Amino acid sequence: MSARLDIHQGDITRLAVDAIVNAANESLLGGGGVDGAIHLAAGPGLLEECRKLGGCPTGSAKSTKGYGLPAKWVIHTVGPVWQGGLAGEEALLASCYRRTLEEAGRLKARHIAFPGISTGVYRFPLERAARIAVATVTAELAKYPDLERVIFATFDDHATALYRALIPSRAG
Ligand code: AR6
Repeated sequence: MSARLDIHQGDITRLAVDAIVNAANESLLGGGGVDGAIHLAAGPGLLEECRKLGGCPTGSAKSTKGYGLPAKWVIHTVGPVWQGGLAGEEALLASCYRRTLEEAGRLKARHIAFPGISTGVYRFPLERAARIAVATVTAELAKYPDLERVIFATFDDHATALYRALIPSRAG
């Protein structure tokens, strides 16, 4: 099953895949981190469409077109803010990955790239988040036969090493 999982270190906004995932906030009106980079690269059309979505609850996902991005769609998901682990953060993070895959399935996306949702400003511990990401995607993949490739877009060597340890067959 891991033949469909891949790792790519670099800027997610440059990936020419069907859908990239945005680590957004509940307003869906932009922010810093990967959210800021995606809005900057997509251009103002993205914010215009996001305004019509009426926000998104934590743990859920909504999609838009990609505008100036090489990706056809952006699936915006809202990760939990890490509060120590006793506030349902792990279940909410898993829900982000599940709901995003559901959106990808609805869009009939063939490839999708995820950043490390919640692992920046929202402070979710990186290794725990990577384990949840890989386990959730692995568990859900069978439901989405159109999905040929799921890419974990890492942003530094440490994150890349963590994902490589979790997806050994794609270690090269
Ligand atoms: N490509 C790939 N990964 C990236 C990029 C990029 N261009 N830029 C950052 N990362 P964060 P969060 C990685 O903070 O923790 C925003 O303001 C980064 O190294 O973007 O879910 C939103 O509006 C980290 O591993 O998202 C929310 O308010 C990961 O992306 C809040 O931040 C996620 O870091 C969401 O916080």
